[in-house]
Amino acid sequence: MGVSFIGALLSAALFVTPSSQYVLPRSAIRIQWEFRKPSWVENIAARANGDLLVTLLSAPGLHKIDPFNAPKQTLVHSFAETPGITGLLGITELDADVFAFIAGNTSQPGSYSVWKAEFQNAQSADASISKITDVPSAGLLNGITTLNPRTVLIADTNLGNVLRLDTRTGQSQVVIDDASMEGGINGVKLLGRYLYFTNSVTGKLHKVPINRRTGRATGAVETVASELTDADDFALHEDGTAYVARLSGNVIEKVAPDGTHEVFAGGQDSVGMAGPTALTFGRTSQDSNTLYLVTNGGLKHPVNGETVGGRVISITL
Ligand SMILES: *[C@@H]1O[C@H](CO)[C@@H](O)[C@H](O)[C@H]1NC(C)=O
Repeated sequence: MGVSFIGALLSAALFVTPSSQYVLPRSAIRIQWEFRKPSWVENIAARANGDLLVTLLSAPGLHKIDPFNAPKQTLVHSFAETPGITGLLGITELDADVFAFIAGNTSQPGSYSVWKAEFQNAQSADASISKITDVPSAGLLNGITTLNPRTVLIADTNLGNVLRLDTRTGQSQVVIDDASMEGGINGVKLLGRYLYFTNSVTGKLHKVPINRRTGRATGAVETVASELTDADDFALHEDGTAYVARLSGNVIEKVAPDGTHEVFAGGQDSVGMAGPTALTFGRTSQDSNTLYLVTNGGLKHPVNGETVGGRVISITL
């Protein structure tokens, strides 16, 4: 698919709105890439070499964004010719430079499959793409995280549960099914013995202790934070701080380990950060202090009638 790049110099102007709520200096925020609109960037993962892998929901493609060098954007793989797939969703690094990601048709329960991208070498964007398995029992597979190099945990938004998938055998089963997941479990991330997850419908961030081998809950689900309306996916720092993308709020909320939270970036009227969907931290020495954010450009909730293309945005912490 075609793409257009908007220079970082333009970004300052695009982010300014009369009632902007930015708590960060605008110099800390850069547009790394903007896909031609309408576009919805759904999720993001960083490679060890610094490349960002982003999934598009609006057109089924896996793209690489290089925050440091031209060309900025490279299509890794398009699923446009793969029957039944209209978009890509969650992505996670399974093992060194091997990523697992979700594909499907969000208008059709049962259409989901999980795929693998294995990069040929640390520098190139060439990846061999293979299907791990179809998951016909799924309602809407959304967030995904790595339990161990062969196993992932996946949030099923529609069925309100968490699946464990063995990527070698393709076998999956529901391992956590809790009322706190009903209606809209979205992102999932692991930290220590806890699985953290958002629920978009209740606007909450939860955590649950799990067995790190089986993925099953070993205790009750706790609520970390509430009033995170339309919480989508999130990034989780090793100190327990979560950065949550609030899709309709056009903000990133910073949630401290004690659950207190505040707007970290964005604002209700922010076209520049319209429709944030997911975040990840930079992994190299050059960007270890950077949070990367992807957006749908306001496709679902236009900002005062305005939309932009789905974006990849960097925020220096
Ligand atoms: C996606 O699902 C909808 C609803 O079932 C269907 O009409 C459409 O043809 C599907 N798209 C593809 C590419 O399979």
